[in-house]
Amino acid sequence: MKAMVPAAGLGTRFLPATKEQPKEMLPVVGKPVIQYVVEEAVAAGVNDILMITGRGKRAIEDHFDRSHELESLLERAGNTEKLREVCAISELANVFYVRQGRPRGLGHAVMCGAQHMGNEPFFLMLGDVIVPNGECLPRLKAAYERFGASVIAVAEVEPDQVSRFGVIAGEEIEPGLWRLTDLVEKPSVAEAPSNLAIFGRYLLTPKVFEVLPHIAPGRGGEIQLTDALREVLKTEDIYAIKTSTGGFDTGTILSWLETNITLALASPEYGAALRESLQRLMEQR
Ligand code: UTP
Repeated sequence: MKAMVPAAGLGTRFLPATKEQPKEMLPVVGKPVIQYVVEEAVAAGVNDILMITGRGKRAIEDHFDRSHELESLLERAGNTEKLREVCAISELANVFYVRQGRPRGLGHAVMCGAQHMGNEPFFLMLGDVIVPNGECLPRLKAAYERFGASVIAVAEVEPDQVSRFGVIAGEEIEPGLWRLTDLVEKPSVAEAPSNLAIFGRYLLTPKVFEVLPHIAPGRGGEIQLTDALREVLKTEDIYAIKTSTGGFDTGTILSWLETNITLALASPEYGAALRESLQRLMEQR
């Protein structure tokens, strides 16, 4: 199965850091966010990854390419560990690129990848979301194999947080598995049909490419994927699986900080030292 990774957004919530640098390249505990995304896809057996990029996103392409100058420098310095690490990045997967001329919304970004995906189901993975344990994509795939329909990964969020996400409505047909009746993009707390939030991992059937060209700009003047999926829902079932971890959004300064701290605390390399520094800092306040 192929994966599509939209990474063409402007990252306006992270300005000025993202003025010249893709937000997907911001580091989280030592490596760029998008490398986590590619590694997650590879761990699930994906070897063909299509990135949707655009202006100012060249650093993403360079990151997954060879870097001969750096490699020979590391080789001369005898730094074999870093050399191996650097070379491995370019060998992770076959990464392809399509440019989204203008960032006109996630739905539009997905449409840009239609030709590469062909008439096959595919994983859609947001390029600024890290999903830490490797369970999500295999669970999406297992549900697809069972129902032959699109499947969306969701996670419970605090009810007052629903307006930050797309939220699903549906019937829980067995524990942790929903058949959708609707999807709502960034609902108000009062309007939200559930607190099950879409966090950025999907397995979609190619039906979405049929409906997307007919979707008018919606919320924020953008072509919304949620609107396209509502259209898909008129002719095909869509399922959702609840994951326990959800995803770590890195698209705002606060969420990026939280992601760094959470993943660093969990890391064998930095966890203990960071815990100590955080404790010291908190005591000093
Ligand atoms: P976001 O809505 O979080 O990204 O999209 P954004 O538009 O860059 O964010 P702000 O609001 O300006 O801060 C989620 C993912 O979809 C991609 C983004 O790059 C991000 O990885 N995306 C979004 C596209 O590829 N194209 C778009 O038109 C919009």
